[in-house]
Amino acid sequence: MKSPLISAAILLGGVFAFLKFILPLFTAPLPASLIYLYLAIVLSGIMIFGTMSAGGLEAFMGPIYRFISGEIDGPTKMARILVLIVFPLLVGWQTYTKLAPSELPPAENRTIHPAPPGEFVGLANPYPTNESTIQEGKGIYAANCSPCHGPNFDGKGSAALGFNPPPANFADPGTIAQLQESYLFWRIKKGGVGLPIEGMPWKSAMPRWEHELTDEKIWKVIIGEYDGAGQSPRTWEEED
Ligand code: HEC
Repeated sequence: MKSPLISAAILLGGVFAFLKFILPLFTAPLPASLIYLYLAIVLSGIMIFGTMSAGGLEAFMGPIYRFISGEIDGPTKMARILVLIVFPLLVGWQTYTKLAPSELPPAENRTIHPAPPGEFVGLANPYPTNESTIQEGKGIYAANCSPCHGPNFDGKGSAALGFNPPPANFADPGTIAQLQESYLFWRIKKGGVGLPIEGMPWKSAMPRWEHELTDEKIWKVIIGEYDGAGQSPRTWEEED
């Protein structure tokens, strides 16, 4: 007769394989904690079934008892010593890695482009894009923005390294190319402190420019920014 221990191990392995690999083919995968909960339930069922009769108890627990107490000779004896050394080491290592402080920064998932407040939605730039507004805008940019956003509009200004999140790279298709001018107007006017609560945790160094720059200068720096970065603002009209 097969040892009940082996049948129990096969049953547990089968249930695990089913939950882990077969079930996800049909529905969403189960979280690991749930899989272990189910396995614990199956294991207690097996224990109850295996230990119901006196004979069953001996067949089930006997080998475990003899293994731990060292009543068997031969290769099993070596295995026992190995298990008794390796198991506490594993538990110790696991506890250590759980408790040891890590140097990695905590994972943050911030909303990079949260919705702007209503009063900024749909504003249009009152200034035309031409040689003079571009030059004026680039001048404002060079004086105020390039230390962080970089003289090449790529987010690599001399002060950029000190900030996390880093200053936006305007040449990257993921920043201003995706945004409307009204969105930039809001971000430049209100800065990092103007970001809504859904964008938390914000530790944005982006200054609030509303006291430094007039609305006119903000609209012009936007023109200079798009030109310098080689991008154009997103418009809804074009998508019709
Ligand atoms: C002290 C450094 C610093 C300065 C100076 C600065 N910025 Fe920023 N800026 C940042 C940082 C950091 C971010 C990224 C975090 C965020 O979005 O708030 C950012 C983000 C932005 C964004 C948002 C881009 C996006 O994809 O959402 C715009 C637009 C912007 N800055 C424009 C400007 C303009 C224009 C100026 C000059 C008038 C300026 N910044 C000056 C640090 C700075």
